[in-house]
Amino acid sequence: MSDLDARIPNNVGLSGDRRLQRALLRWQPGFLRWWNEMGPEGFQGDDVFLRTAVSVEPSGWSHFDYVRMPDYRWGIFLAPAEEDRRIGFGDFLGQPVWQQVPGEFRADLRRLIVTQGDTEPASVEQQRMLGKTAPSLYDLRNLFQVNVEEGRHLWAMVYLLHSWFGRDGREEAEALLARHSGDEDRPRILQAFNEPIDDWLNFYLFTMFTDRDGKYQLLALAESAFDPLSRTTRFMLTEEAFHMSVGETGVGRIIERTAVHMAESDQDPRAAGLFDLALIQRHINFWFTASLDLFGSEISSNAAHYFASGLKGRAREKRRDDHAALDGVRVLDAPEGEGLVRREVPLRNAMNEALRDDYIADCRRGLKRWNRILESRGLPDRLTLPSRRFHRRIGIYAGGRFDPDGNLISESEWAARRDRWLPTDDDRKYVRSLMVPVTEPGKIANWIAEPRRGVHGRPFGFEYVRRA
Ligand SMILES: [Fe+2]
Ligand SMILES: [Fe+2]
Repeated sequence: MSDLDARIPNNVGLSGDRRLQRALLRWQPGFLRWWNEMGPEGFQGDDVFLRTAVSVEPSGWSHFDYVRMPDYRWGIFLAPAEEDRRIGFGDFLGQPVWQQVPGEFRADLRRLIVTQGDTEPASVEQQRMLGKTAPSLYDLRNLFQVNVEEGRHLWAMVYLLHSWFGRDGREEAEALLARHSGDEDRPRILQAFNEPIDDWLNFYLFTMFTDRDGKYQLLALAESAFDPLSRTTRFMLTEEAFHMSVGETGVGRIIERTAVHMAESDQDPRAAGLFDLALIQRHINFWFTASLDLFGSEISSNAAHYFASGLKGRAREKRRDDHAALDGVRVLDAPEGEGLVRREVPLRNAMNEALRDDYIADCRRGLKRWNRILESRGLPDRLTLPSRRFHRRIGIYAGGRFDPDGNLISESEWAARRDRWLPTDDDRKYVRSLMVPVTEPGKIANWIAEPRRGVHGRPFGFEYVRRA
């Protein structure tokens, strides 16, 4: 392994590409400055038991060891090239995929890459204070693992910008470090990435629902006719799976802790310093719907254009029959006047909705697993996903008020019942009051159950983070 490959692990032949080397080595100090200023605060000197991607071999693409986060080796990995890969959808269906960016789609591809790339450092910024209140060293380590991998996802997008987009690619790569989550003048591009995540309940829900949006965006980009984008996102998906598991099991462990209490006692969970199911439900309602917005509008000519030109497909296009999507329609209940009116939308204009469908089905499976926890404790209570019309700020439902079942309601009804459906100031205060750091190995905060397993064969009580 050359010196360079040790500094920036990669499978893109970086040591043989002088131009790319120079570009990345010029970008790297800015990234490290950003990581130190905007990354996890207060833990940069600690040894953290982390996974580092060192190759894409399925048997051993990751390597576990203690590492200080600023020394983490953020690498560049593409999934192996598929021989004779063909475009799987849209107007160029069946043609060979592109190894270069076609001039007419350059601006669109750049925009897709920048939008995806912007979310990666944004989430690190959103979560930078969380370490101070981690419920256990195990959770603290998982937070940092998610954070360094989001950093690597930024590298992945910056690699594409530097390799294929010349000078404006370089400028965009700089801008990815210059925008900041919640910044008044230069905020992150998508709204869900400008909200601070400063407690662990919100963190788990974010990784459950918002990282899962990421999964579906990556699945859609993995279909892209631009092969380097497809291969980059395919490898990112392997890491994304871990982020979602942190979220799903995190919320699951909170539910478990509350369920055990409810099964044994009539006392209000809050009196025992736990999260009650109604509060958890309100947070599900918030994060699920904020994440639905990230798919964009139900009816979108941009999405139709991306699909037609092969830039962004649907998730798992191979499993579908009609890859051109030229004839079909999508039926939507669109708000009109006092009510909802059934409308037919050409399939290609409803591509955002198609991706949202898959996302919702995936979330449903997660909810089912959470409800099994309640069931196994003999409790009749169940958690649910609200309607896709509820609490939307983007798309055709953004203008109206809907209850969690999707019924159109009046503004006054909304005002009267909002606090039953979405997190309240009181919730936020209560959640924060429970956030106290637990840093002793093997110990855990009261409001969450221990995980079933530790990390990489280590027990829960392992010292996952060694304080400096
Ligand atoms: Fe990511
Ligand atoms: Fe992620």
